[in-house]
Amino acid sequence: MKVAVVGTGYVGLVVGACLAETGNDVICVDVDAAKIARLQENRLPIYEPGLEPLVVRNQREGRLQFTTAVGQAVERSAIVFIAVGTPPDEDGSADLKHVLAVASTIGQHLHAPKIVITKSTVPVGTAEKVRVEIAAHTTTPFHVCSNPEFLKEGAAVEDFMKPDRVVVGVDSAEAARALEELYAPFVRTGNPLIFMDIPSAEMTKYAANAMLATRISFMNQIAGLCEAVGADVSLVRKGIGTDRRIGSAFLFPGPGYGGSCFPKDVQALIRTGRERAVPLDILEAVEAANARQKRLLFEKLRRHFDGRLTGAEIAVWGLAFKAETDDVRESPALVIVEALLSAGAKVRVHDPAAVETARRHLGGRVTYATHAYDALAGADALAIVTEWLEYRTPDFPRIKQLLRRPLIVDGRNLYDPERLASLGFTYDSIGRRLACASS
Ligand SMILES: NC(=O)c1ccc[n+]([C@@H]2O[C@H](COP(=O)([O-])OP(=O)(O)OC[C@H]3O[C@@H](n4cnc5c(N)ncnc54)[C@H](O)[C@@H]3O)[C@@H](O)[C@H]2O)c1
Repeated sequence: MKVAVVGTGYVGLVVGACLAETGNDVICVDVDAAKIARLQENRLPIYEPGLEPLVVRNQREGRLQFTTAVGQAVERSAIVFIAVGTPPDEDGSADLKHVLAVASTIGQHLHAPKIVITKSTVPVGTAEKVRVEIAAHTTTPFHVCSNPEFLKEGAAVEDFMKPDRVVVGVDSAEAARALEELYAPFVRTGNPLIFMDIPSAEMTKYAANAMLATRISFMNQIAGLCEAVGADVSLVRKGIGTDRRIGSAFLFPGPGYGGSCFPKDVQALIRTGRERAVPLDILEAVEAANARQKRLLFEKLRRHFDGRLTGAEIAVWGLAFKAETDDVRESPALVIVEALLSAGAKVRVHDPAAVETARRHLGGRVTYATHAYDALAGADALAIVTEWLEYRTPDFPRIKQLLRRPLIVDGRNLYDPERLASLGFTYDSIGRRLACASS
């Protein structure tokens, strides 16, 4: 099938490359000319495991092209995905200006019947707005579908190739048949392709992200209580995760959720609730708890320094909002680094993939280490924010030797507290007892 994917970001690029991989003739479009020029040379704008070989192979085979010409891409395609960003507006609602701008362009270039699919995360009613915007420019018949994306950054290719499920909101049997054909290679093992009406599909995406964010904030608050009462959240997590009604995924406490999705989607859903006078106080609490959680590692550090962080040198491992991505949008690491800088500390940072994206926020105010251990020499403490694999089994004697003071504050519970204490560290993690060398 001839497919256009408009918006070549974390979602659009993965969708385009994966659809090309299954034999479709795909053109990815973006208004960012520099990004498109790089992609045409097989230089990827993002770090995403497994994506580069797909882009290289499919571009070489002629199944994947990149362009800035939205109109031409629409004209040559039977299926058009809208995968542009939907950032939060000032009031927290999803800003639809990019989505509707694309819809307008699609309408101006719609001279033959097409299926237009909203892939961006958009509030209920957006597909209808897209339909109205397109229809304002053309009399040619077309279909609009909602096909929210559930991929996770860091595992996006795997998630798209082997989805738990594909959700599609359709307005006609013809559109359903086309989507069924497009997704057939991805649901061969029986993972469901779930058809529904369009508003339900749009709602499903927000409900999924809100549920996941809720689990995270819930576990973060349980972790806080575990620390206060002397329980161990790792054991509590196992204890509840084995209950099949609860399940074990997404129960890890941490430094707060970040990324481009949970924060903005929770906010947008709260906003929709307010507009419709439907109380969503659960989500307001989830958001407030997360904002507090993002400062937790800073507060822990401040306690260890008796409130005097001025002049202290703090090493931070991990800037990305989670491992296996270079995305720092809403990353707790940025909150922690900013708080440390405001408190007068000096900060040295390391991240295997996200230094360049973080540099756009932090500029020259921190020192960037090329290797993880380079951040440590002479530092007064190490804070771990992202759960990168390379931080999981480090050389502890080397860390101890490099740090001026053997203090590790760990937002990801990567290490065994007893072991760290036996190695001479003070080790402060989330929801577990403080481990001290002397204890
Ligand atoms: N990132 C994720 O993990 C994820 C997962 C599921 C869903 N989503 C949703 O998918 C959508 C895209 O997210 P993303 O992370 O890929 O965003 P992104 O910011 O990485 O990419 C968006 C791209 O759209 C381009 N763009 C903006 N306006 C355009 C226009 N008029 N024409 C062509 N291109 C245009 C931008 O230049 C940018 O490259 C959002 O609605 C997001 O909520 C994201």
